[in-house]
Amino acid sequence: PQRPILIQGPMPIEAEKFAERLENVKVEESGSTFEFYIGTVEGYPVIVTKTGKGFANTGAATALAIEKYNPAAIINQGTSGGHDPALNVFDIVLGKRSVNIGALKTGELAKGEGIEPTEWKPMDLMASEGSAGEDPDAENIRYYEGDKDLLAAANAVKDTYSKGKVVEGTIGSADFWNNEVDRINWIHEKYGTSVEEMETAAAAQISAAYDIPFLGIRVLSNNKTNDGAYNPDTASANQDYVYEVVKEYISVL
Ligand code: 5AD
Repeated sequence: PQRPILIQGPMPIEAEKFAERLENVKVEESGSTFEFYIGTVEGYPVIVTKTGKGFANTGAATALAIEKYNPAAIINQGTSGGHDPALNVFDIVLGKRSVNIGALKTGELAKGEGIEPTEWKPMDLMASEGSAGEDPDAENIRYYEGDKDLLAAANAVKDTYSKGKVVEGTIGSADFWNNEVDRINWIHEKYGTSVEEMETAAAAQISAAYDIPFLGIRVLSNNKTNDGAYNPDTASANQDYVYEVVKEYISVL
């Protein structure tokens, strides 16, 4: 049988629009958080997962889906907050790469010396099997590359999206939501992030562990760097675009 394409979305508003467009759908649940909508797009097997938000949910949902359904490719999609002032609400970032922006090692400060977040160092939990606190190789930014065939499919259907622009960029993920513009700028400079959200790098890390082609596709639902106000309608716009990406990817398989 054909291996399915797996589409992930964290929140109901980020998964249900796509799930509604599947043909021949059957729903499987796992635990209280994960929902798998198993169906087809133009006859080809596609599974939409509602993963829940954040790293732990996404990592677990990705590993589970890989073990259960053996996907040929994984797309993690949903909303995000802009780190690049040139990007506006409704613009879409294709994750040429993604990175865990919440993995940090602090400086050495004794009692009474305070807390210095701008001195914190990126930490790479995959650098070795030794202690990330002691291993000098762990002072490293680990980027996960987006798959080139998925990127090509996404670029090929860019013009079908009329609500904003579609650009390649860097997706930064962590279990936080930053509203401090100076902190956003610090992350943007250090990691080169285009946007932040809470899932893509987790899914990318697990997809890489199983050697499965992966791409993050994230619409801006907000951008603190240019006063772009939150708009939840971006979630469904992104799913409409990702649907076009999936059709394109399937057509060249
Ligand atoms: N910061 C962090 N996460 C964001 N999300 C949208 N905008 C942001 C932002 N500025 C996404 C996350 C998470 C949910 C809260 O929305 O990926 O799933």
